[in-house]
Amino acid sequence: MSAELEPTVHPEAEREVEILAAEKEVYPPSEEVVARANVPNYMEVREEANKDFIAFWDARAKEFIDWYEPYEKVLDDSNAPFFKWFVGGKTNIAHNALDRHVHTWRRNKLALIWEGENGELRTFSYFRLWQEVKRFANVLRSMGVKKGDTVTIYMGRVPELAIAMLASAKIGAIHSVVYGGFSEQALADRIEDAQSRVLVTCDGAWLRGKTVNLKDIADEALKRSPVVETVIVYQRTGQEVNMEQGRDYWWHELMNLPIASPRCETEVMDAEDPLFILYTSGTTGKPKGVLHTCGGYQVYIATTLKYAFDLKDEDRWWCAADPGWITGHSYIVYAPLILGVTGFMYEGAPNYPYPNRWWQLIEKYAINVFYTAPTAIRGLMRFGEAWPNRHDLSSLRLLGTVGEPINPEAWRWYYRVIGKERCPIIDTWWQTETGGFMITPTPVVPLKPGSATIPFAGIDADVVREDGTPCDPNEDGYLVVKRPWPGMARTVWGDPDRYVAQYWSEFKAQGWYFTGDSARKDSDGYFWIIGRMDDVIKVSGYRLGTAEIESALVSHKDVAEAAVIGVPDELKGNVIYAFCILNAGVSKDDGLVDELKQHVRREVGPIAVPAAIEFVDSLPKTRSGKIMRRLLKAQVLGQDAGDTSTLAD
Ligand code: WT7
Repeated sequence: MSAELEPTVHPEAEREVEILAAEKEVYPPSEEVVARANVPNYMEVREEANKDFIAFWDARAKEFIDWYEPYEKVLDDSNAPFFKWFVGGKTNIAHNALDRHVHTWRRNKLALIWEGENGELRTFSYFRLWQEVKRFANVLRSMGVKKGDTVTIYMGRVPELAIAMLASAKIGAIHSVVYGGFSEQALADRIEDAQSRVLVTCDGAWLRGKTVNLKDIADEALKRSPVVETVIVYQRTGQEVNMEQGRDYWWHELMNLPIASPRCETEVMDAEDPLFILYTSGTTGKPKGVLHTCGGYQVYIATTLKYAFDLKDEDRWWCAADPGWITGHSYIVYAPLILGVTGFMYEGAPNYPYPNRWWQLIEKYAINVFYTAPTAIRGLMRFGEAWPNRHDLSSLRLLGTVGEPINPEAWRWYYRVIGKERCPIIDTWWQTETGGFMITPTPVVPLKPGSATIPFAGIDADVVREDGTPCDPNEDGYLVVKRPWPGMARTVWGDPDRYVAQYWSEFKAQGWYFTGDSARKDSDGYFWIIGRMDDVIKVSGYRLGTAEIESALVSHKDVAEAAVIGVPDELKGNVIYAFCILNAGVSKDDGLVDELKQHVRREVGPIAVPAAIEFVDSLPKTRSGKIMRRLLKAQVLGQDAGDTSTLAD
């Protein structure tokens, strides 16, 4: 093993002890928190919802969402697992997020406050956001985009990203947002799979005072995936970019033409019409386009945000994720607007130019509810308490976390140093496929550091053995969901068989949804998520598939075969280790390691770059040729290899 491969792991045994202690550490809600909760009797509401989940969702669909035409039936399960929700209902998410608010007092309320990494400030009232969305919707229409067409969006964290999403939704187009941290091949694959004829992008994006060349990357991707006919480029950095005549148009020029009129009808959508595709990694193969639809998704995200984060009309809400992931779709763009609250968006890095940037923003904009990922908390924790302590964080009322298990130590730091022991920590477990929070406390639920606590009202989640029998308390098992919910994904874009195979075949007989995660439940029924059981690796909360990184490695001329695994890391949760078999005659030098890292960065993106690459002569495989990643992991961690009876050689 090279020195680089020396693991910096957080020994599993120690984590076990830490968690057992945390299980006994209970934080009941304060009286003050309960007194102002939106749903103070949540535990009773939840019990009722679990007795009759149809009635619960029916009531929420009427409470939070306007329908052009009412639905005839809440749930149609006649073709499971292809469930239908709010059958026959007509709606549009852009109506609920914008149109309806501008006829109320909210029209002058701030919908979005945005700060650029360079300190630039932009604000949008509901009225102004509505105008911008209508104008861009007309631009898309004039480019020939129709109901049911897909639009790929590849941008930095700018308000125009939300405007492009809402504009697509408004005219019934299906958006596919590709995270701006992805690179050439990743973008090309996603455009190709979605068959988008229109791409919306930026010239560049600001990150840590430097620019990311989004348009250059998009140009490369379009060479590999030529289906795109029109590119709309929002100018953010002003850097020099190539504009191809007849294909590429500037956002600001189009928005100044008469076609960009602020009169635009909202398309009437069926509850089950597609709303968006979001690509995510799964077991083997290329990324899957997870499909969400127009009706149930809205009901689900509005309810979960209102209940779990207890938002009020006067609140300022900051979800610090990227709009390019499901967290951003549901809880930066759509749900806050549906609820009519004021959202905040920040363009850049948390520690730029100094490690107090986020704390400074919370103080400056008086943020009330703040939601981020464990990896960010751990990263900022390393700079010490002095950074947050020089800011007035007293506006904060609730804090949240998502993306990976939060270690109790980081939880306690977040609770004490940021929340000053006043703010409940809402640890939300969910997935791209679930649309919204699934296992989460609300402010009235007693907390345990490191546990996402209990399933949301109406959600029947459990931890079971391979044969479907329930696990004993504290026994590790498969995390499953036993009944449908409105925010669930409806299919994998263009590949319904894969949808069934991926999520509904592990517990086919029972008809349960398999999450891909392992978990345990303690004796109080609290859920402790352990992590992925499949070939998905969570790096800093970002979801990556082994297959995509491996195929990037083997696309390099010197690599014959590759295998990647996730190895625990104190800061990032996991890091990527890669094993490569080189082609005959290639010399194994350090220069090649760097070159391969650069190659992965260019093909997939910076988040996918392996922390270490080891050159090997063979890879452990089963007799049927499947790489045994478990053995590679045991080797890196210096653990016992366990059962090797299926090993070919
Ligand atoms: C996977 C899904 C960013 C939105 C949700 C992520 C892990 C997510 C938690 C949590 C422990 C968590 C799971 C899950 N995960 N939230 N609170 N505690 N693990 O969506 O990118 O589709 O990833 O993230 O492993 O399966 P995603």
